[in-house]
Amino acid sequence: MKTKQKLEFGDFQTPPALAQAVCALLARRGVSPATIIEPTCGEGNLLIAAIEQFPEARQLYGLEINSEYIARVEQKLQVRTDPQSVRLMNESFFRFDWESLLETVADPVLVVGNPPWVTNAELGSIDSENLPRKSNIHRLKGIDALTGKSNFDISEWMLIQILHWLSPRRGTLAMLCKTAVARKVLSFAWREGLCPAQSSIWGINAIKHFNAAVDACLLLCEFSNEKQSPFADVYIDLSAEHPQSRIGLREGQIVADFDGYEVCKSLQSLSKQPAFVWRSGVKHDCSSVMELRSDGKANFVNKAGVQVEIEPTHLFPMLKSSQVAKRETETSENFMLITQCSVGQDTSHIQHTSPLTWQYLQSNRARLSERRSTIYRNQPPFAIFGVGDYSFAPWKVAISGFYKKLEFAVVGSYLGKPIVFDDTVYFLPCRTRPEADLLASLLNSNLAKKFFSTFVFWDAKRPITVDLLKRIDMQKLARELGKQEEFAECLRLRGMAPLTGVAKTRRRAASVQVGKMLFD
Ligand SMILES: C[S@@+](CC[C@H](N)C(=O)[O-])C[C@H]1O[C@@H](n2cnc3c(N)ncnc32)[C@H](O)[C@@H]1O
Repeated sequence: MKTKQKLEFGDFQTPPALAQAVCALLARRGVSPATIIEPTCGEGNLLIAAIEQFPEARQLYGLEINSEYIARVEQKLQVRTDPQSVRLMNESFFRFDWESLLETVADPVLVVGNPPWVTNAELGSIDSENLPRKSNIHRLKGIDALTGKSNFDISEWMLIQILHWLSPRRGTLAMLCKTAVARKVLSFAWREGLCPAQSSIWGINAIKHFNAAVDACLLLCEFSNEKQSPFADVYIDLSAEHPQSRIGLREGQIVADFDGYEVCKSLQSLSKQPAFVWRSGVKHDCSSVMELRSDGKANFVNKAGVQVEIEPTHLFPMLKSSQVAKRETETSENFMLITQCSVGQDTSHIQHTSPLTWQYLQSNRARLSERRSTIYRNQPPFAIFGVGDYSFAPWKVAISGFYKKLEFAVVGSYLGKPIVFDDTVYFLPCRTRPEADLLASLLNSNLAKKFFSTFVFWDAKRPITVDLLKRIDMQKLARELGKQEEFAECLRLRGMAPLTGVAKTRRRAASVQVGKMLFD
C-alpha cells in the first residue's frame, strides 16, 4: 500500500539539508520574495527552509493533497516563532482555485517546491485519478499521442501552470524535478512565449537525496522586467559558480550547445525528402512470443523456455540494442518472427503458407491480444509495426537509441537473410556494403559527432532518437568531408539523381516487392 501511495503521489520528501541548500542558492542569486507558495508542500521541508531563508516574505502558502502531511506541517509550525502566519491548504493542485489566490498576493512571488515524480502512464496503470483534467498538454495528434509521446510527468503539467502564473509578473519558479522534465518545461516556455528573463538548471544527486536513479535538478526561472532570453545555463550542482553549458532554443528547436549551434547549423537537413531516411527497428511489444533463440541448429526456444517448431520463412536474425552498441553484429543467436512485410498487411495467408507458424501464433493469441498499446487495435491478428521494405534491406547502418555513444555500426545479413532490429535501434537501409561503409564513415566522423553533440541530451532515457538523426544532411556532410564524389556515385546507383514523382513511386513499389518475395 505504501509503495502504491508513494507512486501515486510521487511522494519523495525533500531532505531538510537539500531544502536549505536550495533556498541558500536562491538568496545568493538575489531572490527576495514578498510571497512564498509551496504548491505540493508535503511534510513542509522546503516551505520551512524558505520561511527561514526569507523572513521578509509576508504572505506564505502551503498546499498539499495528503491530510497527514498537512497535520505534520502544522505541528512543525506551532513550535516556531516566525512573525508571519502560514496558510496551509489540504487540497489537490489540480482542483484548487489558484487564480483567486494569485489575485491577492504581492510580487515578487517565489513558487518553490518539489512536485510529484510520476508520469500519467504510471498513474493510468494503477487507475489513479491524481491527474489534470485536460492531459494532452502538447496537443499531440495521431500516432505520436498513441505511441507515448503524449506520456508526461504530472510535474511537467504543474510546472507549466506555474509558468503561466508567473510570466506576467515578477517572481521566481524554483522546483526540484527530473532534468528531462526541466528541459521540456523550458522548451515549452520558450516556444509559447512564456519566456523567463533568466533560466538555469542546477544538478542534484537524486540517488543520494531521494534514492531515485534518475537525472534530477533544481529548475530556476526568474521573471522580471528584463529582456527575456531563450536559453538556460546548466550548472553541475547547487554550489557551482560557473555553468558547464548553455542549452537553449535555436530556430524553434532545443539544443544542448546553444553557442556551438552556429558552427554546425550549415549541416542541418532542410529537405523534406532526404536521400536516406532513418528508420527504427520492429515494434511488436511481445518479446516472449516474437523473439526466439536458436541453438545453432534448427531448434528454436522462445523466452518462456518453450521449444518452438516453425517454418523458417518468417524468422529473421535479429540484433538487440546492446549488440549494436557493442558492435557485435556479425552473427546472432536471436531471431524475430516477422508476420508482415508492411504495416497493416493481412496475415491470414500464413495459415496456408506456414501452417506451423500460424499454429504457434494461434496458441499465443491471448498474449498477443493483451498488448496494451492502442496501435494494435483494428489491425490484422499478430500485427507488428516499424516494418516495411527498409526492414529487409541487405545492409544497414545502425545505432542503438539507448546507449550513450555516438557510434554507427555496419550490419549485413546472416544465414542469407537480412538482420532486423528491435525498436530501440535506428538505422539507414542500404543496398550494398560499399554504400553502408560510406554512410558509416560519414556518420562516425568527428564532424558528425560534433553536430549530433549540439543536439543530444545524454541524460535522456533514449538520448538518440530519429528526430536527432534526421537532422543531419548526409550530402552536406559528405561534401564537408571531401567525399562528395563517392556520395554522388552512391546516389547514382540508387537511381536518385534527381527522381521524378513517377520514378519514386516505381522505386517504392519495387522495394515493397523485395519484402514480399522474402515470404514467398
Ligand atoms: C516529491 S513530494 C515533495 C514534497 C515537498 N514538496 C518536499 O519538497 O518535501 C510530492 C508531494 O506532492 C504531493 N502531491 C501529490 N499529488 C498532489 C496533488 N494533486 N496536489 C497536491 N499535492 C500533491 C504528495 O503528497 C507529496 O507530498
